[in-house]
Amino acid sequence: MKTSRRSFLEAGLALPLVLNSATEIAAAPRATESPDSKDSSFDPWVEIHKENLRHNVQEISRRVSARPILAVIKNNGYGMGVTNIASLLEPQPEIFGFAVVKFHEAMSLRDAGLRKPILLLGPFDENNLEDAVARNIMPMVYTPLGPALDKIAAKTQKPVPLHICIDTGIGRVGVPYHQAAPLVRDLASRKSVQIRGTMMTFTEDPDFDKEQLRRFTETCAAFEKEGIALGKKHAASSFSLFQHPDSFFDMVRPGMAIYGIYSENEFRGTGVMDLRPAISLKARVIYAKKLRKGDSAGYNRAYLAKDDVWVATLPVGHADGWPRTAAKGAKVRINGELFPVIASVSASHCIVEIGSEEKVKIGDLATCFDWQPASRPEDVSESCGASVYDLTMHLNPLLPRRVV
Ligand SMILES: Cc1ncc(COP(=O)(O)O)c(C=O)c1O
Repeated sequence: MKTSRRSFLEAGLALPLVLNSATEIAAAPRATESPDSKDSSFDPWVEIHKENLRHNVQEISRRVSARPILAVIKNNGYGMGVTNIASLLEPQPEIFGFAVVKFHEAMSLRDAGLRKPILLLGPFDENNLEDAVARNIMPMVYTPLGPALDKIAAKTQKPVPLHICIDTGIGRVGVPYHQAAPLVRDLASRKSVQIRGTMMTFTEDPDFDKEQLRRFTETCAAFEKEGIALGKKHAASSFSLFQHPDSFFDMVRPGMAIYGIYSENEFRGTGVMDLRPAISLKARVIYAKKLRKGDSAGYNRAYLAKDDVWVATLPVGHADGWPRTAAKGAKVRINGELFPVIASVSASHCIVEIGSEEKVKIGDLATCFDWQPASRPEDVSESCGASVYDLTMHLNPLLPRRVV
């Protein structure tokens, strides 16, 4: 059977493979089988740490006094595979449901049998809307969709559950708070509509966030005074979990914190939450060699050996999601030691400097980031300037995902 790129991608998003340890990978069957693709055991892969994921959800729940958690799993589940993440999170009682941006991600969750509520944060046309409603996916609405909703409800004989998005200053999507009244009143007055939630997004500018919070609170209070039921109010992403306990409302909406990563370095060590990374990027050393003094490495001879030095080549590059900036200070863990990425990160390779001794050999496990101190995603981010969002969300969807 010939597999299209899209169906291969979707297969790759739904990986049930569970391994006992990373050392089994060379012998283990591929997580994603495609007739035209077999990964080498040296190729990079992404690991998802089940127990850390569970821990982080409990930690968030403690922080928000057991309010429900709407887990943001957009952008391929922050790099871990949208259905992988949803399947691991769904059994946890703290998880109310899932939020994604792409319509196809929402549909793939239902295709995979996920049952909890799904909020579609991203765009859709009228056909998408009808399909979404048929699959019990709630749209986030901020434009006058009343007539389209009437049509759908007339067919299904049920009101359409939805969340309203109010823009309090981020200027991205959402009806501006000062113009929200006609839309909210219109939606609330229709029998075809059931408002299940009302939401906003912070700009994450600590001072302006306070103003946004005031705008949202006052706007919602005015509607509620009119007798409009707004459903669950929600605003807090990972940033707000640390910064704005007054914004937790009826539900919180984090992404990065669930994956155990501090979205801002300054949140580390605050003791507010103990987050444990649930994601790692690994590969195996494909070559180790001694450069002589004066030898070069990388395109444009980006690295020149000052002395004789051992280097190792890893088969992971920017096309896999390992950022080009990693060569500006990121370190990779091999055999328990951290070695700097040198030269330049090319599409499929990077080179690390081992030092004067031959400490690594072909086949050794190399960890770009994981949950260990000094090799967390935040450490990589701090050392080379790549955002933790880029480190996770830019991971190539075609890399194998393995749940450990
Ligand atoms: C609307 C919305 N809510 C919540 C989140 C979660 O953000 P974070 O991963 O920083 O917790 C995002 C992600 O960017 C988002 O776009």
